[in-house]
Amino acid sequence: MAVERTLAILKPDCVRKNLQGEVISRIQKAGFKILSMKQMRLTKEMAGAFYAVHKGRPFYDGLVEFMTSGPVMPIALEKENAVADYRALIGATDPKDAAEGTIRKLFADNKGENIVHGSDSPENGRIEVAFFFGECELV
Ligand code: RTP
Ligand code: MG
Repeated sequence: MAVERTLAILKPDCVRKNLQGEVISRIQKAGFKILSMKQMRLTKEMAGAFYAVHKGRPFYDGLVEFMTSGPVMPIALEKENAVADYRALIGATDPKDAAEGTIRKLFADNKGENIVHGSDSPENGRIEVAFFFGECELV
C-alpha cells in the first residue's frame, strides 16, 4: 500500500468541547504520523476556498459560518493508506450513520457540526495539506 498524506481539521466544535487531546490521541493510536499541526481562526475567504467544491450546495453558507465560528486545528497526517484509514477512523459525515466507536459517532452532535474534517482522496490529501502547510513544516 502507498504512503499517503491526508489533512485532518479539528473543527470549531471539537475545540469548543475541549476534545483536541482526545481526538489527537485516537489519531496517533491508529498509527498516523503527525507531520505538522497548528491552531488558527479561518477567515471566511479561507473557509470558502477550502470547501469551494461545495459552493452552491444548500449547506455551503452554514458550513463556512460554522468553520469560522472559532479556532480550528489543521493537522497534516501521513501513513500507508492514510485517506481511507482516516475516514474509517472518523466515520460517516452524519454521526447518526457513523459506525460505533468512530470519532464522529462518539463526539459529534449532527451532520453539520461533526468534529473533524478528512480529505476524500490521496490527491486532495496532498492539495489540502499544502493549503495549510509549507513543505519545510512537514517533518
Ligand atoms: P469533511 O469534508 O468535512 O471531512 O466531511 P465529509 O467529507 O464527510 O462531508 P462533505 O460531503 O465533504 O461535507 C463537508 C462538510 O459540510 C457539512 N455538511 N453539512 N447539513 C448538511 O446536510 C451537511 N452536509 C455536509 C459537514 O460539516 C461536512 O463535514
Ligand atoms: Mg469532504
